[in-house]
Amino acid sequence: MPGFDSLLPRPVEVVPTAGDCAWPADVVVHRVDELPAEGYRLEITPGSVVISAADDSGEFYARQTLRQLIGPAAFRSASIHSGPVTLPCGVVTDHPRFGWRGCLLDVARNFRTKAEVLRFVDLLAAHKLNVLNLHLTDDQGWRIEVPRFPKLTEVGGWRTESMVGRHDEPVRDGRPHGGFYTGDDLREIVAYAAERAVTVVPEVDIPGHARAAIAAYPALGPNPDERLEVWTSWGISTSLLNAEESTVDFFRAVFDEVCSIFPSPVIALGGDEVPGSTERHSRFIREIIEHLHGHGRETLCWDEVLDVGDLPHPVVIASWQGEEAGVRAAAGGHDVVMCPEQHVYLDHRQSDHPDEPIPVGYLHTLEDIYGYEPVPLGMPPADEVRLRGAQAQVWTEHLDSARRVDYASFPRLSAFAEVVWSPAEGRDYAEFLPRLREHHVPRLDALGVEYRPLDGPHPWQTRPGVPGRAR
Ligand code: ACM
Repeated sequence: MPGFDSLLPRPVEVVPTAGDCAWPADVVVHRVDELPAEGYRLEITPGSVVISAADDSGEFYARQTLRQLIGPAAFRSASIHSGPVTLPCGVVTDHPRFGWRGCLLDVARNFRTKAEVLRFVDLLAAHKLNVLNLHLTDDQGWRIEVPRFPKLTEVGGWRTESMVGRHDEPVRDGRPHGGFYTGDDLREIVAYAAERAVTVVPEVDIPGHARAAIAAYPALGPNPDERLEVWTSWGISTSLLNAEESTVDFFRAVFDEVCSIFPSPVIALGGDEVPGSTERHSRFIREIIEHLHGHGRETLCWDEVLDVGDLPHPVVIASWQGEEAGVRAAAGGHDVVMCPEQHVYLDHRQSDHPDEPIPVGYLHTLEDIYGYEPVPLGMPPADEVRLRGAQAQVWTEHLDSARRVDYASFPRLSAFAEVVWSPAEGRDYAEFLPRLREHHVPRLDALGVEYRPLDGPHPWQTRPGVPGRAR
């Protein structure tokens, strides 16, 4: 029987009491006012299980805690129980430290099927993460069907081949790649996520990272007479959207479609890595922020947008280039989600192990992720109210299958989940690591997650001969 000390993320407060509770037991659920948003109280006595929840999310999280206490078998797709199961008795009182506990999944660089996205939602939910930032468009692919502009997916959804690793000279695989989601696929993902207390925040990246759209509709690009391909390279394309009024109109219509599919109060417009951007591009970004505001939505922007100036409304800044941007954004009256690549980019390499597959970016070990503190150094306490939370990023240039996504994400995302849920006080890697190894890794096994083993990759998880580029 797993005890309360097996729980992950670690709850705010646990008071064990005497005895066990035979499972299955009747579960009684109450809605209560005195708990913080997403909070719950789980009271297990020898005769009953009572959940008091602030809201639907709180009830969902109480049930996740219960699932952990039942044992790893509760994470399988079907029951394989034969013998009796007991729960420890006690009271768990719990709520998250941050309201935005996010993970970005890049389905533009490497498409993930709808079934794979639904499974990823399950994994987020099992970790009490509550935002899936779905990166739907980029230079290398356009993944959201927009009925008014069918070529976005007919043309922009496919590329002829893909770059392999980070060789000095680009090496390509000669293999076509692509895919997209229909509006109904995305509505299904949104509804499935909502049932699991996860909000899907869609991202359509403008005015850079948009070469797939330009390949589909050359009039959107820098030179309407030039036929660009959906990009087969990784990196930062210098082909920007042209910011003509007709292009802004086009994207107003695209974001209308986005808003019709995604009820999220926050919609992401990208805004990152815009080489050679002009005041026209800044105006483009301001226009789309205004347009989303007209839909009653807030806009999530990467931190480059802080330099756009004259923003018509406060936005939510995703502080990715470091922590300083988040401090600056909060001081300027914007809310902040901390996403610094120096700390929480899960496509970045996990170790200096010689077999680490395609090791790119900064070194982010499991211990580094667990040690990440979302409140940035230098943020005045008065500005901390602007900090909505933090988000891990799973960019997929070098993650070309769901198995590679599993490897990059877990168990580092398990550590991240605890960072954004649990109180900072008492966070101790020496306590976390055995809890992860003995109790949580078996849950990942039961879920069928192909995580990175704590001692290094399995032989079949390596990518010999495919170089990365470490920073
Ligand atoms: C980013 O990593 N370009 C947000």
